[in-house]
Amino acid sequence: MARPLFQALPGTRDLLPPDTDRMRDLVVRFADQAIAAGFGHVIPPMFEDVGVFVRLGAASDIVSKELYDFEDKGGRRIALRPEQTASVCRIYAEARPTTPWKAWYAGPNFRYDKPQAGRYRQFDQVGAEVIGSHDPDVDVELIALAARFFEGLGITKVRLLLNSLGDAADRPRYLDALRAHFEADLGALSEQSRQTLMTNPLRVLDSKRPQDAALVSAAPLITDFLSDAASTAFDRVQGGLRTLGVGFELAPRLVRGLDYYTRTTFEFAADSLESAQNAIGGGGRYDGLIADLGGPPDPGVGFALGVDRTLLACDAEGCFAGPSTGVEVWIVSTTGGYEATEAADELRTAGVRTDRSFDARSMKAQMKSADRSGAPLAVIIGADEAADGMVSIRPLREQAAQQLLVPRSDLVAKVKEMLEQ
Ligand code: HAM
Repeated sequence: MARPLFQALPGTRDLLPPDTDRMRDLVVRFADQAIAAGFGHVIPPMFEDVGVFVRLGAASDIVSKELYDFEDKGGRRIALRPEQTASVCRIYAEARPTTPWKAWYAGPNFRYDKPQAGRYRQFDQVGAEVIGSHDPDVDVELIALAARFFEGLGITKVRLLLNSLGDAADRPRYLDALRAHFEADLGALSEQSRQTLMTNPLRVLDSKRPQDAALVSAAPLITDFLSDAASTAFDRVQGGLRTLGVGFELAPRLVRGLDYYTRTTFEFAADSLESAQNAIGGGGRYDGLIADLGGPPDPGVGFALGVDRTLLACDAEGCFAGPSTGVEVWIVSTTGGYEATEAADELRTAGVRTDRSFDARSMKAQMKSADRSGAPLAVIIGADEAADGMVSIRPLREQAAQQLLVPRSDLVAKVKEMLEQ
């Protein structure tokens, strides 16, 4: 076959059924759980003033290397959103809803990342944010929402990694200690990590390079630098998770890819996926972000789950096949009249997934289409049947089953009865 003139760009994918059916169902399940927990749906724009995202941390790769930014025709500096937390905070600062404000969202995000399995330039997230409460029980509620969601999909090989990054005031003391630790043995660090140390010492902890392993594992831990208030809050989060039976591992070296975090941070690691792309979700507190965006000094906490990676984890575990959306009835008609049009409309209105043949094809060709469609039933309307006010219903999957001749007026009831058998 000749190569088509255009193909989907690197890092983007065309999604078709059944993947789209699964993805839609996944979002609906997430929505149901978020709504059941009192969250309202927000739909932020897919692009914003670049300044909204620069606040995520100029030292993070997501901002410094991966942002899709451009000037629009009006001369505005724009960026496609790399995530939605910053937009939700910008909405909060603009609309000032009553607090605590609980919002959930779903949709695509854009990062100019190196494409590979589970890492795309356009990827989908579902997420939830709570703005306006310092209460660590909110952190517990959010983490439990994500954990129960994965549980509901049937994912079992997932570990919740939990950390606290302390308050803004705890950070400088920790960063000083971290810097001192690495600088004491600078020669042992990889060249890349030496660079990272200058811009963002925390991220050195995230180095997967074998050369850095020994120094990273001996590095001081943030949890030893927490203020009393941050430490008490972290205990409360852990107690809440234990109460709910949500398993977690303390991960004092867990560093997230965004710079806005304070106190609780967490990630869900799927052991069925390759370690470089095994984070199927993550989040935490960002008590300073709203003020950074020019809003009130209100705290926030939330998470986002990677839809694409979650589905890969489902594939790897053989769970959440997704709903069946194939047609249930195929209409075959050779009358040349509007019989097929009318019957299809009636069945669809009654909620029966129905399709039909077009182009006045022969009975044989239409029956072939019916077979190929996978529909369990064919409704056959020939000229004789139409004249007598009758239709035939033929089961397509069971060899022994008989074709039934029923009054046209009974079509919907009879089809429903047969589909339920
Ligand atoms: P994040 O860790 O950058 O956090 O992304 C959340 C999830 O999105 C990841 O765990 C991963 O599953 C998925 N993801 C990220 N990048 C890609 C990619 N290039 N391809 C496929 N999937 C990807 C955030 O985005 C924060 N906004 C989470 C948050 C909400 N924190 C507080 N509130």
